[in-house]
Amino acid sequence: MELNLDQAYSEARRELETAAGDPQKIQALQVHYLGRKGVLTQFLRSIAGLPPEQRPAAGQKANAIKQQLSADFDAAIEALEGDGLATQDRIDVSLPGRTEATGALHPISRISAEICAIFSKMGFDIVEGPEVEKDYYNFEALNIPKNHPARDMQDTFFVSPDVVLRTHTSPLQVRTMERQAPPVRVIAPGKVFRCDSDQTHTPMFHQVEGLLVDENVSFGDLKGTLTAFVHQMFDEQTRLRFRPSFFPFTEPSAEVDILCVICRGRGCRVCKHTGWLEILGSGMVHPAVFENVGYDTGRYTGFAFGMGVERVAMLKYGIDDLRKFFENDLRFLSQF
Ligand code: PHE
Repeated sequence: MELNLDQAYSEARRELETAAGDPQKIQALQVHYLGRKGVLTQFLRSIAGLPPEQRPAAGQKANAIKQQLSADFDAAIEALEGDGLATQDRIDVSLPGRTEATGALHPISRISAEICAIFSKMGFDIVEGPEVEKDYYNFEALNIPKNHPARDMQDTFFVSPDVVLRTHTSPLQVRTMERQAPPVRVIAPGKVFRCDSDQTHTPMFHQVEGLLVDENVSFGDLKGTLTAFVHQMFDEQTRLRFRPSFFPFTEPSAEVDILCVICRGRGCRVCKHTGWLEILGSGMVHPAVFENVGYDTGRYTGFAFGMGVERVAMLKYGIDDLRKFFENDLRFLSQF
C-alpha cells in the first residue's frame, strides 16, 4: 500500500514533467490523479478497508501526498499562465488592434478646396484677405457708395461706421488689383457674414470669388470659364443658365443657375419646382471699379464671379438643410 502510494506519486511527477507546457495534458493528468474518481481519491477510500491501527498513518501519508501533488499541479498551471498560454485568459494575438479615430476635413473645407483646385488648373492664383474689412473695400471701391440702395441687398454687421464683417469676398477684387497690374487671374476663398438666419441662411457662410482681367476679355470668356468649372465640379451633363441680374460692381451682370442635380430639371422640392438652382453671381467688371484701382478702362476688361460654397456642397452631396454644416454632429460629418 505504502509502496503503491510512493510509486503513484513519482509516476505522477514524471508524467507532469513530460506534459509541461501542454495545458490539455496537464488538465487530464490532474483529473486522473486528483479527480473525484482519481488515483489518490481511491487510495483515501481504500483506507477504510485497512486494519484500524494502520488507518491513521496511511491517512496522513495519503493526505500529505495529495497536498504535495496538488501543489505540483498548481505550480505547473501557474507556469503556463506566466507564458500567456493558459487555456483561459489566453491573449488572442490575432485580434485586430484598437484604431485611433482620425479627423477629416469638414465638407465645406473639402468643397472649397475642390473649387480652388479646379480653378488652379485653369491658371488662377489663390489669394486671401481679412474677414474684418474696411467699408471702403467691402462697398465703396465696389461702386456701392454710402446711402446707395444696393447696400440693402446685404444685411451688414458693422464693427464701427467704417469697419464691417465682410459681406462677400468681392473686396478681394479691389485688394488684388491695388497690389498688381494686369493680367490678373485670382480666386479668393473665405468666410463672409450677413445678419440673416433661417433654414437657408446662416450669419456666416463661405464664398469663392473669382477675378480675371486682361486685354480683350469678353463675356464669352466668363461663360466658357464657368461652364468648364461646372462640368468639372458636377458632370458634363450639368447644364448652365445665365440669367440677367444686377450687381453695382459688374455690368452686365448675370446669375448662374445649374440644372437641378437632384431632379435633372423635372422639378422637385430642392429647386422649388423650377428645375434650376442658383449657384453664383457674376459679370463684367464695372469700369468704375477699374477707375478706383487705377486700371486703364480703355485697355482692360475683366470678369468676376462669386459663388456660395455651402450651395455647391449641398448640391454635390444632396443635402437639403444648410444648418447641418454648422451643427458639427459627428454622425453627419463622418460621412464625407
Ligand atoms: N459678391 C456677390 C454676392 O455676394 C457675388 C458677385 C461676385 C457678383 C462677383 C458679381 C461678381 O452676391
